[in-house]
Amino acid sequence: MTDKEAILQRHSVRSYEDKKIDEDVVRQIKDKIEKLNLIGDLHLQFIEDADKTYGSFINKARGLGSAPSVIACVGKEADDLEERVGYYGEKLVIFLQQLGLNTCWTGTFSKKNVNAEIKSGEKLVICIAVGYGTDQGRIRKSKSADQVTAGRKDRPEWFNNGVELALLAPTAINQQKFTIKLNDDDTVEFINNGGVFSRVDLGIVKCHFEIGAERQN
Ligand SMILES: Cc1cc2nc3c(=O)[nH]c(=O)nc-3n(C[C@H](O)[C@H](O)[C@H](O)COP(=O)(O)O)c2cc1C
Repeated sequence: MTDKEAILQRHSVRSYEDKKIDEDVVRQIKDKIEKLNLIGDLHLQFIEDADKTYGSFINKARGLGSAPSVIACVGKEADDLEERVGYYGEKLVIFLQQLGLNTCWTGTFSKKNVNAEIKSGEKLVICIAVGYGTDQGRIRKSKSADQVTAGRKDRPEWFNNGVELALLAPTAINQQKFTIKLNDDDTVEFINNGGVFSRVDLGIVKCHFEIGAERQN
């Protein structure tokens, strides 16, 4: 399954089977995390037992309490930490989809119940629920390309392809508060229009755009 196919297939899943992730799959996840941490200068961690991460009333009610495992997105405090977490975390989310797993980014979780290693100077930004979904989630509403783009009007195909996948990027409360601007010299700007976790969102959007456009910015 290509990255694009995984993106097209993926939706947030909030209900999981009572099944641990296979040992061999866990090894592959840990290998991938090691590589992403190295390139992204992050401390993402696979926590096999989600335990009470989603023990709150709201998360239980949503179904997230059934997630067997969780990815703790940790990194050294830095201005661009949230955006890097979004960018590399989404690369991991796509990989998890390719492994036959389901996921949900979660800004709402119990910090004290996540069994993550947080060293001095580091911050736990967000978590990602992971496991075998009882379903594959569902298609949600989306803004249109016109609503999230700016700049030059004669748009090359690569740009439109990038925007198409950016619109499939998960964002907090499906806010999609970003603008992708095409400049005259073919460079692309990603503008954060605010909102909760919007810096994480922007990293996720960049990751999707690059896969769609098949080029890095
Ligand atoms: C940064 C971020 C935080 C999120 N926080 C939560 C959350 O706390 N609880 C939840 O149920 N979903 C959460 N989500 C999932 C979004 O609601 C979901 O991605 C969005 O509605 C789009 O749906 P999709 O992922 O199926 O495309 C979050 C997503 C992102 C990107």
